[in-house]
Amino acid sequence: MSLDECCIVDLPKISDPRGNLTFIESSRHIPFDIKRVYYLYDVPGGSDRGAHAHRTLHQFIVAMSGSFDVVLEDGNRKQRYHLNRSYQGLYLCPMIWRYLDNFSSGAVCMVLASEYYDPSDYHRDYDEFIASAKRRSA
Ligand code: TYD
Repeated sequence: MSLDECCIVDLPKISDPRGNLTFIESSRHIPFDIKRVYYLYDVPGGSDRGAHAHRTLHQFIVAMSGSFDVVLEDGNRKQRYHLNRSYQGLYLCPMIWRYLDNFSSGAVCMVLASEYYDPSDYHRDYDEFIASAKRRSA
């Protein structure tokens, strides 16, 4: 479980003069079955979201509208992604610390998740996450 597994996925895009269409199918375009969908919207300028990691959850993040950055860290290295296309998404494997910032006005961040909401799946303490990630990779 490292940053090497996290990647931008190009989704199918059906271009049409009436408006474009994109779809996402579980286990075809993303490597998990979708159990939950949530979205962030009306994010005030300058706000950060996230700042946690998940022990077992897989997620896929799409900028449905506008743009924002997703910063990932696996305990060894850090990488910033800029999401601004509704036909692309970012896959996150478990045990990745993430925060989201640089939201444009009107940005909508949709997250597809492999499990129902479970507070016990969260690492919310950064130092504890880093220690756990380093133990796993030792
Ligand atoms: P949180 O995951 O902390 O948001 P962020 O990723 O921006 O830090 O969730 C914020 C609140 O929403 C928290 O009280 C838990 C609740 N929540 C749910 O009830 N269900 C969900 O699926 C999610 C993602 C959050």
